Amino acid sequence: MRTTIGIGLLGAGTVGGTLLRRLVGDHEAILAKTGLDLQVRRVAVRDPAKARSFELPAELLTTDPRAVVEDPGVDLVVEVMGGREPAGELVAAALAAGKPVVTANKELIADRGAELIELAAERGVPLLFEAAVGGGIPIIRPLSETLAGEQIRRVAGIVNGTTNFVLTRMTEEGAELSEALAEAQRLGYAEADPTADVDGHDAAAKAAILASLAFGVWVPGDRVDREGIGDLDRIDVVYAAKLGYVVKLLAIAERVGEVVSARVHPAMVPVDHPLASIRGATNAIFIEGPSIDELLFAGPGAGGEPTASAVLGDVIDAARETLAGAQVAPRIRFGEGSLVDPGSVETKWYVRLDVEDRPGVLAQVAGAFGDADVSIEAVWQEGTGEDAVLLIVTHRAPERAQRAAVAALEALEVVRRVGATIRVQSDGP
Ligand code: NAP
Ligand code: HSE
Repeated sequence: MRTTIGIGLLGAGTVGGTLLRRLVGDHEAILAKTGLDLQVRRVAVRDPAKARSFELPAELLTTDPRAVVEDPGVDLVVEVMGGREPAGELVAAALAAGKPVVTANKELIADRGAELIELAAERGVPLLFEAAVGGGIPIIRPLSETLAGEQIRRVAGIVNGTTNFVLTRMTEEGAELSEALAEAQRLGYAEADPTADVDGHDAAAKAAILASLAFGVWVPGDRVDREGIGDLDRIDVVYAAKLGYVVKLLAIAERVGEVVSARVHPAMVPVDHPLASIRGATNAIFIEGPSIDELLFAGPGAGGEPTASAVLGDVIDAARETLAGAQVAPRIRFGEGSLVDPGSVETKWYVRLDVEDRPGVLAQVAGAFGDADVSIEAVWQEGTGEDAVLLIVTHRAPERAQRAAVAALEALEVVRRVGATIRVQSDGP
């Protein structure tokens, strides 16, 4: 039986370069364990003159990614170049040619996943994307296979390593966002354009994929309600600690009655919550359902090594299916569904106000919340004299009501500034 599979790589950067080293360095171990002779046949990069972390015969490198897809020696295509295009058209071309595809590209899957999954099914070839969410954590396969029969209620957690790394540095070492981000880039955690991490686009794409797989309703990445950490002030990380919270960027996908809610935003998480102790580039994802109650998947969520490990697992899986000659059926079928109105989502909020410190101010502030039907849970005052800072945590209220309260606060003469509004995590993971 033929056990050799020719592999073509689109990209050889942080993830692709590590994968190449594994494919070459671990060739014998993989052969011994799986019976698969995985041969790298072609590798596309943008700049062939760049110094690389791997050695490869020069003739295998090309700057033409189409040549990789069309190479007759390439049986399986690995897309680790990132971005929507030309990655999308290359993946579609590979699938159309009946070649299995493995990708780590959450942006592409969140954008065109439904179409590409359908194309793969039509051609009967695998399209695998385990590394697209959670780096080295197995989450896509458990969600779409092991838990395919579970009526999942909620998938929530930390899905972006870069921002969790940045928030950990800000919390524990008082680092500035920009310096912590530069370190995350050096460590290979960040996207090519790190604003994708900071502004929550990367986490939103992952939330979209998780929601789609969990609920069988296709949720495009751009329909996820998104707020990143770009506007987060370090002082609120400090105040969070004083009030018993840690700031985290959360991704939440849940069923709310008949509709699906998918959102990404910073949140103050109580210090005794399991997510509060997730540090650095680690990711942690809870899955809740009636039979499983609560599962927690945690581990390295970014970086070349863990991500390449997930890609390699997919390569082996796709190679096995190809050699078995299986006509691969789609693992999840996507039905019709609608998304929740973000204004109706209920959470608690932390609000920081710069106010005048004189009699009646608190009453006016409380009145603004009350008029918007938002109940206050606790108030702290920092500083006295001409200016003071009020830290307020509200009870749960719909986002629409919270926003109305903030608008009313901004209109008050005694409020100099609404310094921050951050959601407070209060229910489940
Ligand atoms: P990267 O380091 O920027 O590598 C991208 C690679 O693709 C480079 O080798 C680049 O060539 C090549 N490339 C880009 N555009 C090209 C083009 N038009 N033609 C030919 N080659 C092209 O990115 P990465 O961090 O490895 O990420 C790759 C993918 O994995 C992305 O989709 C990312 O979201 C995903 N991912 C990354 C991580 C992580 O921790 N880094 C984790 C999970 C998923 P040059 O080397 O010549 O520039
Ligand atoms: N930039 C991403 C992150 C890579 O920081 O999580 C892993 O998907």
